[in-house]
Amino acid sequence: MNVFITKLMSTMTLEEKLGQLNLELGEPSAAVNAGGAKSNDFSNRVKQGLVGATFGGEFASNKLSQDLAMQSRLKIPLIFGKDIIHGFKTTFPIPLAMSCSWDPDLIKESARIAATESSAEGINWVFSPMVDIARDPRWGRIAEGAGEDPYLGSLIAQAMVKGYQEDLSKPSDVMACVKHFALYGAVEGGRDYNTVDMSHIVMYNDYFPPYKAAVEAGAGSFMSSFNLVDRIPATINKWLLTDVLRHQWAFNGFVVTDFASINEVKTHGVANAGDASAMALKAGTDLDMFSGNFINTLRQALSDGRVTLNDINVACRRMLEAKYKLGLFQNPYKYFDEKRRNTDQLTTQNLNAARRFAQRSMVLLKNDNQLLPLKKSAKIAVIGPLANSKADLMGTWVATKESGNVVSIFEGIKKMASSNSVVTYAKGCNITEDPYLLKYMDGPLSANPSAGLTETKTPDELRKEALQIAANSDVIIAVMGETSGMTGEDGNRSMVNIPETQVDLLKQLLKTGKPVVLVVINGRPLDLTWENENLNAILEAWAPGIQGGNAVADVLFGNYNPSGKLTTSFPRNVGQIPIYYNHLSTGRPYIEGKERYTTSYIDVNNSPLYPFGYGLSYTDFKYSDLAVNKKELHGNEDLIVTTTITNMGKYAGEEVVQLYVQDVLASIARPVKELKCFKKIMLQPGEKKEVNFTVKTSDLMFYNSDLKYTWESGEFNIFVGTNSRDVNSVKVNWNKN
Ligand code: GLC
Repeated sequence: MNVFITKLMSTMTLEEKLGQLNLELGEPSAAVNAGGAKSNDFSNRVKQGLVGATFGGEFASNKLSQDLAMQSRLKIPLIFGKDIIHGFKTTFPIPLAMSCSWDPDLIKESARIAATESSAEGINWVFSPMVDIARDPRWGRIAEGAGEDPYLGSLIAQAMVKGYQEDLSKPSDVMACVKHFALYGAVEGGRDYNTVDMSHIVMYNDYFPPYKAAVEAGAGSFMSSFNLVDRIPATINKWLLTDVLRHQWAFNGFVVTDFASINEVKTHGVANAGDASAMALKAGTDLDMFSGNFINTLRQALSDGRVTLNDINVACRRMLEAKYKLGLFQNPYKYFDEKRRNTDQLTTQNLNAARRFAQRSMVLLKNDNQLLPLKKSAKIAVIGPLANSKADLMGTWVATKESGNVVSIFEGIKKMASSNSVVTYAKGCNITEDPYLLKYMDGPLSANPSAGLTETKTPDELRKEALQIAANSDVIIAVMGETSGMTGEDGNRSMVNIPETQVDLLKQLLKTGKPVVLVVINGRPLDLTWENENLNAILEAWAPGIQGGNAVADVLFGNYNPSGKLTTSFPRNVGQIPIYYNHLSTGRPYIEGKERYTTSYIDVNNSPLYPFGYGLSYTDFKYSDLAVNKKELHGNEDLIVTTTITNMGKYAGEEVVQLYVQDVLASIARPVKELKCFKKIMLQPGEKKEVNFTVKTSDLMFYNSDLKYTWESGEFNIFVGTNSRDVNSVKVNWNKN
């Protein structure tokens, strides 16, 4: 590869090298770069070798762009990116939902399918996985990640990268782009694009691990984040992009900016676009997304010495290496096999996989008196503004406009109920009547029918219809929550509740005396305190994707016994945020029932409504006989932890057995619990299994105040249980010598 690229670069002009650092919109009709050039200049720029990559395009536009590139002097192929975040034509549950499967193999499979479908569309670079640790449900983009835990987040990051990049020489593989590097999930107030500020100890221990894991999995590219790191925008942060990413972690791919983020260096108050361009290149940024600054200012930066030709050559080489790894020099049309669009996309197999993924992403939060699973012969009223919605089941970052294939929850339930049952539907209310939220919806969300903007019936008429069908039913399935647009990028909320108008309807439905099952459609942990106190059953269905309706019906009727476990803590109210399980002890830890002067609120319990790792089943699992092979360990011995799980109920079911460790005393304060391993097991009714875990000293490692990765002798609590709260524990002493 090196010889080929060195030879190619020896023939390239400076302009052609800068062209490789320039990423533009992929739809030539809309491809207008920040410099205001018109779209037909796009064609000329590609033919002149001034564009290295495009994003957002699909088959036809990408092929057109590649044809243009083949007319350039050196015929250097383009790479084609797109936001493929949770599936492509076959849209899967949002990543936060998928993470609740606690199944890295399943998540890898989802990335594999996404790679196959997107590569069939002429796309060979996906802006995924998003691996930002998030502890703030107000942040709309918590929907895109894998929750609050660095260990689980790292496993999922690796699974996604390996799913996309099984073998880049194959036309079914795509290059991953890990984002948003770094720390984007820690935006203050949960507001996108807001300030991030934290110590290096928190970075290395809590936020960096999934990015580092993605490098170890071989990710081909990274995307720098919009936010500051140590008060320096990530896009121009040399410590972050070179010292950490390349020198400490040995990343050898390329770094692309987030959308026009070079322009934002100025709005951060750090440098104007021209200087920011040069600073970004020297910091380790290789590709400029959409801003046009690299292509328009680096020649000047070179001539006045703010960058060197070597800086440009280094970035250019990285881009050419990516194209070489993708096999594009051998065959620029490797990803343009028209037949594959019919054979590889939206296949029955992929749709069945989407249904399986959605089943396993759902979390049963409450099920009083075993109301669920439902009998298929029941008379069922399916009510709510999301009960028959299709677009809102797809969640944020839907890569395709084709919602025609989506199965709504009402459709799924109606299809699965038996012929002698009666399944009726009523919208019951709009998503919201909140004027501020409606104003927002009238803008970015106006296309969303469930937002109520296109509703012709009055709230009263909607409510009357719902109460009528409720009165004639045995059970009410209330499908409530958030529209897709209330989540994802810029979908930040100051409240994390189900909108008031929907809760009002729930209260009316309760008055009918019929049992109410709440199915929550959402993209973030929500404050379900009232719902948890008043409703009989709650199923967290997230945005379940294209097969959401069938998967929800599968769970409600017991075709699939829910096994999902939360990967984020659900707060009792928004005032508790940030709330996460792996918190520090503090000098005055809260003790249940203790009087004042401990770290607590006077108006709400410290604990989350539902803790990290929480999820019920239709059966009951009993944990017993927690034991360790030894309580005094030395050096690199292995600690073997065993426990017995018994299925006490009448349903077969899967259980995620979780093991947490606490480093009781260390040179820096350490979390009260850290997830270190888990096993997902299937148990038949009455069956019992002994589960064992091996804990190694590598599981005790952390970054100390010198940022040295190490472990320290001392006392460790080992916890095993069904979630981060309900655990059994045993103490061991572990000494280095
Ligand atoms: C957006 C997002 C990023 C996405 C990029 C391209 O602003 O921050 O996740 O990949 O722009 O769409």
